[in-house]
Amino acid sequence: MSSVFSAANPPADPARSAPVRAGWRAAALDALCERDPLAKADAVSALHALTLEAAARGESRWDAACVLDAPADLPGRPPRPELVEPRSLQRRSMSTPQGRVVLLHALAHIEFNAINLALDAVWRFKAMPDAFYADWLKVAAEEAYHFSLLRQRLADYGHQYGDFPAHNGLWEMCERTCDDVLARMALVPRVLEARGLDASPPIRARLKQAGDHESAAILDIILRDEVGHVRIGNHWFRFLCDERGLDPHTAWLDLAAQYHAPKMRGPFNFEARRSAGFDDAELDTLIAQDAGEK
Ligand SMILES: [Fe+2]
Ligand SMILES: [Fe+2]
Repeated sequence: MSSVFSAANPPADPARSAPVRAGWRAAALDALCERDPLAKADAVSALHALTLEAAARGESRWDAACVLDAPADLPGRPPRPELVEPRSLQRRSMSTPQGRVVLLHALAHIEFNAINLALDAVWRFKAMPDAFYADWLKVAAEEAYHFSLLRQRLADYGHQYGDFPAHNGLWEMCERTCDDVLARMALVPRVLEARGLDASPPIRARLKQAGDHESAAILDIILRDEVGHVRIGNHWFRFLCDERGLDPHTAWLDLAAQYHAPKMRGPFNFEARRSAGFDDAELDTLIAQDAGEK
């Protein structure tokens, strides 16, 4: 996967966003607590750059054995958007600029939450291999990039993040799975992020049809990176199943039932899901769940 840093996404100013704590998982927790979205995105980019530079020198400060206390009021988030029940949110017609703004805002909210979800995987779960923490911090940096692209696109439309209400479903799944890294891997990247793979192509097509090619191009970048995030989730889910002597297929079904994961509904993006590492048996399970829902 390409670097998250580009002309559009330069590394954050290190003087402005240098991590305060030396341990990288503790610094990830500090970024999670940050309330201001821009400061959070900068802190994540700076921490990611720092860890890559240090790793290139053979240094590691993940402190995998360290147990960090959960502060109250996680995650840090701005006073707006107002969080409401999902069913009370506006429906979006992409044929009007206002409808597209509401959609872009909803996507920005997903990416803001995705930064928090990835940071939570870094700080919360101790005793994982260094590569686990490096993977999820890289995901957090890419989510920060996605958020920055959507924030800029909202600004093009004269809006900012916080202008519309949003729901808290993504963070609620994060909270539900805070006691078990296996459940987290099973249900956040492999269910919630994987649903994004299915949702992205039709949204992109409707944006293009409405003539909003710039927003459609952002969706392309997001889909490319999200395949990598789901692949990382699949990798660590299987790693943990191996470690615990569990069959990944039955473990996923058991965890989805135990944690009340949303039922999977098609149409599915099979190509993206295959690239992300789902196997034929898992794809058959999705098809069966979808058929059972109809
Ligand atoms: Fe994302
Ligand atoms: Fe993601």
